[in-house]
This record gives sequence, structure tokens and C-alpha cells, in this order.
Amino acid sequence: MKVTVVGAGNVGATCANVLAHRDFLQEVVLLDIKEGTAEGKALDMWQQAPIDYYSTKTLGVTNDYARTANSDVVVITSGLPRKPGMSRDDLISTNANIVKSVTENINKYSPDAIIIVVSNPLDVMTYCAFLAAKKDSNKVFGMAGILDTARYRAFLADEIGCSPKDIQAILMGGHGDTMVPLPRYTTVGGIPVTELVAGDKLEAIIQRTKVGGGEIVNLLGTSAWYAPGAAAAQMVEAILKDEKRIFPCCAWLTGEYGLKDIYLGVPVVLGKNGIEKIIELQLNDDEKALLSTSANHVKEVMDVLDNMKVVSA
Ligand code: LAC
Repeated sequence: MKVTVVGAGNVGATCANVLAHRDFLQEVVLLDIKEGTAEGKALDMWQQAPIDYYSTKTLGVTNDYARTANSDVVVITSGLPRKPGMSRDDLISTNANIVKSVTENINKYSPDAIIIVVSNPLDVMTYCAFLAAKKDSNKVFGMAGILDTARYRAFLADEIGCSPKDIQAILMGGHGDTMVPLPRYTTVGGIPVTELVAGDKLEAIIQRTKVGGGEIVNLLGTSAWYAPGAAAAQMVEAILKDEKRIFPCCAWLTGEYGLKDIYLGVPVVLGKNGIEKIIELQLNDDEKALLSTSANHVKEVMDVLDNMKVVSA
């Protein structure tokens, strides 16, 4: 099996490195536009193989899409990351052109590949890739929910003093400040979180989760990469091992949750066909209202992309 990661920046390189460590792929191709970057990072990873004991070959290329041919899954991380003071939406015009051309190039050499988008603004860049790829929506989707729930789970683990492994959670909506963490669907070793964390503490954790990406941008001057890269790799693994894992992913809705023609974070089943099912939770009125606010926000940014006419619908 072969995976291509487009963009050898921090997120792309981390994703490739995590995948290599999982040791179930024959090859990971890392592609970047900057001469030497992908080659250098992929070579470094290959030299890590004898130490960390994996056989996955890592290959770096500069814009040579022919070397990505017949990839089973392609992860698109290309585009500019956020700087302090920027929202993810501020990146739309620059990154839409990049994501469109990357998707078209990928399509040329791997027409059957499943595409996972990581570029920001996430929900809208996933829509951009979907329009450019002209393939079924179960094969084009975005990584955001795994990252956002991971942040939520990590904060909860700190608060409770337990292992993050034991926290199960789901989160919905767009990858932005309107995301919707769902305490009613959060458990700690099978125990409802509300039995372990007081309401005000839980609310503070939810707020911190919503701006969790921004917290790191403010600390580092650029966006996060360890958790985002690992989250994308986890999706690749679920697909190629046909694990039928349930994750929140940015998926194309066709009436689920009363929403259609929109990319939004929802719980899905991931397997060899990509998104094999969208799970519809029985949300209460408050949760529905939060989801609707988030959907409205994403739709506004999707409209901006439509009006830019970068890709035709
Ligand atoms: C974040 C970026 C990757 O949330 O969107 O850190």
C-alpha cells in the first residue's frame, strides 16, 4: 500500500513520520514545492528506520506527481499555516488555489485515491478538494474532529488526573471557534464525564478546546503539528486496515442532521471505502442550535469560495 502526503511542512512531515512508524505501508511519498525539503525529510526518516525498526520506505520529491502514482490515500497538508492574530478563514484565497492544483495533480496519477484534507480553513478546503477532485464525497473528507477531540480529551485527562486513553468523546461542527464539543457523549472509562467534572470546569475545558489551535499558534507563532499530523495518520490507518473506526471527520452532508450541501464535522465510520457511514446522533435542542450556528459559519466561508470561482461547482 502506498500513501502520499502533499506538503512537507511540520504537519505533513509529522504525518509521514507517524505512518512510517506504524509500519504497515510499503511506501510513503512526501511531496513539496520547495526544492529539497521533502527529499531531505524523507531521507532523514528512512535513516530513522533501522533505529525505530520499521520497513516503510519514505521517498521525498519536489513537485514530481508522477512519483505519487497509484497512491491508495493522499493527505493534503499544503498551504500556509496561521500566524498569531489570523483566523483559519483568513487563509482562504491563498490556500484554495493551492489545494485545487494539488488535487488536480493527484487526480492525474491516482484517480482512485481517497483524499484526506488537512489544509485550513479545513471545512472549506475540503469542499475545494471535493469540487476539484470530482469524485464521490465518501472519498474526499477532512481531518479536524480527531484533533479537536484529542485536545478536549487531553484537557479532561489533566483535570481528572487520568489517562487520556480512557476518555472517549465526540465533537461536531466546523474546525473553528464554533465547534461543538458534546459532554453528553463524553465518557471516562465508561463513566459519564458529568459525574467526574463539575459544570463550570467542563465549560472552561470546552472553551479552551474551541480555541485550542489558537493557543498553540500564540505560543509558537505558527500552527500545531504533532497532534494534527498524528490525527491524519490515524485516519489513513483506519482506512487502509479497513478498521471501521468511528471518528469525527469533516464529511459532505446530504440531509443528515437536517443539513445538506455542506462539509461539516460529524461522526463517521472509516473503512476501506473511506467514509462508509455518517452516524446521526439524537441531538437535543441546545446541541442542535450550536451545530446550526457552526454550520452557518462554515456555509458563509463556503460561499466566499464559491464566489471566488476558484473551482466550479
Ligand atoms: C490546528 C490547526 C492545524 O487546529 O488547524 O492546530
